[in-house]
Amino acid sequence: MEKLVLIGFGTVGQGFLELLVQKKKFLKENFGLDYKLVAVCDSLKGSVLNNNGLDMEKVLKWVKAGKNLNNFPDGKNGLNALETIEKANGTVMFEATYTDIKKAEPATTHIKNALDKGMDVVTTNKGPIALYYKELSELAKRKKKILRFEGTVMAGTPVFSLLQNGMAGCEIKEIKGILNGTTNFILTKMEEGLSYEEALKIAQDLGYAEAVPDADVLGWDALAKVCILANVVFGARVKPDPKKLECIGITEIKKEDIFKAKEEGKRYKLIGKVWKEKGKVKVKVSPELLELSDPLSSVMGSTNALSFINDALNSVTIVGPGAGRKETGYAMLNDFILIHKNRR
Ligand code: HSE
Repeated sequence: MEKLVLIGFGTVGQGFLELLVQKKKFLKENFGLDYKLVAVCDSLKGSVLNNNGLDMEKVLKWVKAGKNLNNFPDGKNGLNALETIEKANGTVMFEATYTDIKKAEPATTHIKNALDKGMDVVTTNKGPIALYYKELSELAKRKKKILRFEGTVMAGTPVFSLLQNGMAGCEIKEIKGILNGTTNFILTKMEEGLSYEEALKIAQDLGYAEAVPDADVLGWDALAKVCILANVVFGARVKPDPKKLECIGITEIKKEDIFKAKEEGKRYKLIGKVWKEKGKVKVKVSPELLELSDPLSSVMGSTNALSFINDALNSVTIVGPGAGRKETGYAMLNDFILIHKNRR
């Protein structure tokens, strides 16, 4: 029986718990995966811990009704994240607190403490993987625990599990694509006639945009994902500092530019790239004017896409969701299944 600890219970955490509720029977039947939720902790929504298990549906309903978990019955309330990690007898900790790309805290401390405590860890939080991948993966190895982070890039669309499994024998030379749902959504809606502000507001309402949308529109979120790819796939040690790396967002693109491009049979896309040049790993985020015949130019809305240029299969492109409640929650679910499979 897996015992789950959820740290961070915003959009992604709730999306994940919804899937856990919906798929309980499916996961048991298909993977022999059985689980209970032992703790939920969120800096705004409160916390509850019961090592015998919490009613998952009741927790979801409670929070959706706007009630604070500090008043949830059947458990110990009011513990902070570190106390929750300390007191919970969890097997897997799921970290989905807000992304802080400058310091990656408090998420990095949550992950370290959970690994130290002997839990496997799943995170969708970009900060810790963009900034401290090497340290965290080494810690996990030392502790003989698993750290998975599929949801940090392209939400639940498989990137890391694809590279680790289906493309394990391919030498990756370049990775390039659309890595930010909000900006791709804004560019799409602007082409349909909406203003930048209207499009951004919808992206925020749909839960794609970061808490501070600057992170999306200035390219920082895409840069964080590019750095994650650089560090995890290319073994680099780059930090997503937009002042030191080439990073241009979409704020300078006007509606007129978009229409003019369309007339010329072209389309703007915010492209993130990581590649090797003379033995060095390079990263870049910037708008590119693509021909409509380019496969990336037909990727619309909040959808993301990534091409892996490699020696064995030339180019493999994946297209899929890169943001969203269920879509990112699914990344956690898939990581969870893979951790469970690994136990056998
Ligand atoms: N704000 C991000 C995006 C969320 O729009 O892609 C997923 O990382």
